[in-house]
Amino acid sequence: MQNELETKLTDAVIARLSDDADPRFRRIMQSLIRHLHDFVREVELTEEEWFEAIKFLTATGQKCDDKRQEFILLSDVLGVSMLVDAINHRRSGATTETTVLGPFFVHGAKEINNGDDMAAGWKGEPTYVAGRVLSTEGTPLAGALLDLWQSNSEGSYDVQLADTGGKQLRAKLRADAEGRFRLRTILPTSYPVPTDGPMGLVLERMGRHPMRPAHLHFMVSAPGYETVVTHLFVKGDPYLESDVVFGVKDSLIVDFKRDESQVEAQKLKVGAAATVTVAGVEKPVEGKVTLISPALDTGSTTVEVWVKVDNKSGVLKPGTSARVSIAAETVNGAVVVPASSILKDDAGKTSVMVVEKGAAKKREVTTGIADGDDIQIVSAVKAGEQVITTGAYGLDDGTKVKVVVADEKKEEPAAGDKKSGEKD
Ligand SMILES: [Fe+2]
Repeated sequence: MQNELETKLTDAVIARLSDDADPRFRRIMQSLIRHLHDFVREVELTEEEWFEAIKFLTATGQKCDDKRQEFILLSDVLGVSMLVDAINHRRSGATTETTVLGPFFVHGAKEINNGDDMAAGWKGEPTYVAGRVLSTEGTPLAGALLDLWQSNSEGSYDVQLADTGGKQLRAKLRADAEGRFRLRTILPTSYPVPTDGPMGLVLERMGRHPMRPAHLHFMVSAPGYETVVTHLFVKGDPYLESDVVFGVKDSLIVDFKRDESQVEAQKLKVGAAATVTVAGVEKPVEGKVTLISPALDTGSTTVEVWVKVDNKSGVLKPGTSARVSIAAETVNGAVVVPASSILKDDAGKTSVMVVEKGAAKKREVTTGIADGDDIQIVSAVKAGEQVITTGAYGLDDGTKVKVVVADEKKEEPAAGDKKSGEKD
């Protein structure tokens, strides 16, 4: 049974607040005291638990320095940061949704020019980011300032790494006259929030994982406009549904499309042999690759490659259209299937349907070199196995299939016979 002090103490503490205190401060303190006392009464906090809480808050403060903010992390993992964000940014559908600032923002990132590489010197999947800063009326905000920051390909921010030589994987960028911005970087990856401090212990005791889905941070500001703090999340990330800080909103999930031409271009080497074929001319002209552009042309989504040829025969004339084949890589004994056999899911995973004991079995595979209508499979399928080449998308795993060999295709592909899949 509660004694008198337990019930009266709350009002007594609130009554001590000066009438002269700042009204907003008064309101916050009154509410804080009331909720805090109610919480203590509700759980009947023991003295040991009270002291544990004191030790926990002390450790949280002691973990903070100019690079580490354990209190923001505490707020993040308890969902308080997202609640504050939601209350403060009740927006119309015309605006980009906001999300948490997170504990890794650092002031004073280097300003780069539009088109520059924010991740120069960092290993990772090359990524091109472009967008436009507009007012809610659709007016371009020329000169809007974008602050961007992200993790490296192993999921760490510069402030978590020793000897990065200053601020890395973060930049300031100004939108051009049309509000447009563009930059090159690397694909961010999902990462755990720091678990070597008090928050790691809290997450563990709550039975929660510490992961955040891959994202790129943005802070966008322009004079006279409200600043937008948000992320763009990488579609397909396994942690989108269970972000440790509750920061994901559907509108912020973006398809980071893999541009195959750039991936293919990375396999090319200067000096590689090139064969130039001109329509109507039987003998091809041999040449060599002399330059490969490091950047993708975003308009055409192609990569510029220069080939030097010995044009002694004079078959190549200015304006002549020619087809160039470049040997990027040679693989002996490769398993090759028609490109139509490859199935891709929303997460970008590739698979094929293989015929096993009269049934279609889905098998996840890694693909290699693509050459016209053929593609190499580098894992999970052996030479001689039967791969379904048409209609595989409509087949459920385990569907019984009848194998039909196409008459017109007499030549033997390296992976075995080309088959047609039919539902039985
Ligand atoms: Fe982050």
